[in-house]
Amino acid sequence: MTNLVTLAELGGPLAAIGGAAYARHAHPAAYWSTVGLPLSAARLLASYSSTMDACGLTVEPSRWRALAVRATTRREVRPVPPRRGMIRPTSTGLRMRLRLAPGQEPMDVAASAERLRHAWGVHAVYVRDVKPGVVELRLVGYDVLRRVRMPRRFDSGLLRVPVALREDATAFARDYRAVPHELVLGATLSGKSMYLRHLISGLAAQPVALVGVDCKRGVELAPFASRLSALATDPAEAAELLPVLVKEMEDRYDLIKARQGIAPGTPDEEITSDVWGLPESERPPPIILFVDEVAELFLVASRKDEERRDEMVTHLIRLAQLGRAAGIYLEVCGQRFGAELGKGATMLRAQLTGRVCHRVNDEASAKMALGDIAPEAVSAACSIAPELPGLAVVGDTSGGWSRIRTPYLSLADAAATCRASAHLAPDVPALAPFRPHVPPVPVEASAPAVAPRPVTE
Ligand SMILES: Nc1ncnc2c1ncn2[C@@H]1O[C@H](COP(=O)(O)OP(=O)(O)OP(=O)(O)O)[C@@H](O)[C@H]1O
Ligand SMILES: [Mg+2]
Repeated sequence: MTNLVTLAELGGPLAAIGGAAYARHAHPAAYWSTVGLPLSAARLLASYSSTMDACGLTVEPSRWRALAVRATTRREVRPVPPRRGMIRPTSTGLRMRLRLAPGQEPMDVAASAERLRHAWGVHAVYVRDVKPGVVELRLVGYDVLRRVRMPRRFDSGLLRVPVALREDATAFARDYRAVPHELVLGATLSGKSMYLRHLISGLAAQPVALVGVDCKRGVELAPFASRLSALATDPAEAAELLPVLVKEMEDRYDLIKARQGIAPGTPDEEITSDVWGLPESERPPPIILFVDEVAELFLVASRKDEERRDEMVTHLIRLAQLGRAAGIYLEVCGQRFGAELGKGATMLRAQLTGRVCHRVNDEASAKMALGDIAPEAVSAACSIAPELPGLAVVGDTSGGWSRIRTPYLSLADAAATCRASAHLAPDVPALAPFRPHVPPVPVEASAPAVAPRPVTE
């Protein structure tokens, strides 16, 4: 009997511990909200001063403070940690602001991030510079990139779409106004097309012309045909489409020039050097050119094709060089993008400001994307596991980098989004001949209106 009672007494807590361990692995978000958050918050509150001291983030108290402590208490005067703001819980972690003491800089706190993460039992700690003298600590409770859930609220706008989640649980947005052209690199099956899929379905709802060059015979981009203003599915079609885009860009420059020249009395603020300064009624819609498997445009089988290749590369370089002011942006995807592709490859790469590097097979490929950003970014890209497709290292315009992962989006859902917003495709007359043919959606076979009757005598 006593054995039974002991078993019952032990069974409860053991089941609770087992359940918590299971929830932590299988439902990390629910575990964090119910168990992880209160535990970490309690640890943080209880050990804040001692942890900061152990990390070397405390400073000697001011003379007035030391005097006040001595006068009011008999305790020894201890070094003081940075003043802490309110702890703000989130669905993925905790946030807290710190006021740096004189002589401290954000890098001091960032250098201790790994120690803080262990002290407070969280998955990771990130430090963000908020304003001079104030940093924000972002504690992330669990690995948010394992099962990606985008934050519910984010500031999207024209030409700004959230495509992935950063490892600090904030949304990563692709902003074409800030970073006009981008290179997306990665080995096969690393998630490049998924990244494109998110971009296209995000932009589908905006008044933007989407143009695709997909030399895999269109298998990646053709499902979005209903929303695309133009689609080329092999190098020969691309060779016809690219000069039309360059011509469109030149026409847009003429439009801007005409606007600058027409009225000599135009107020200064209305003189513009790009399409965004044009009045809305005259402004041509932005065009985004998606190139999947860019190497296909560079590779030639015979000498005869070489001329066509050189022309295409020159057009791409011109679009990358001059496109931004004309509202033409490039999103270039490839498995490798180095000098071995031939003339013009490195020149085009140098024009692509944004860099996203998915899993790669060798360090040289990662260097093609991130080499000029940071050596740590290259090694981070080389260590992406094949089990996590969609995970990538993205270079910031500020020279920093972070890990991101796209959420899963099925091709059918993305294609449905494109079909639903097909009417939003803006009218760009020059691209009309390249508009892809969209086969009509077959109507579901329903019950026939008149029930067939067997023929009888
Ligand atoms: N974020 C993600 N979450 C889950 N699965 C993903 C994610 N990204 C990609 N995948 C899966 O990984 C596989 C490869 O993705 P994708 O087709 O985007 O790769 P790719 O880099 O374009 O490959 P390729 O060079 O062969 O075209 C697909 O089956 C896709 O469903
Ligand atoms: Mg692909």
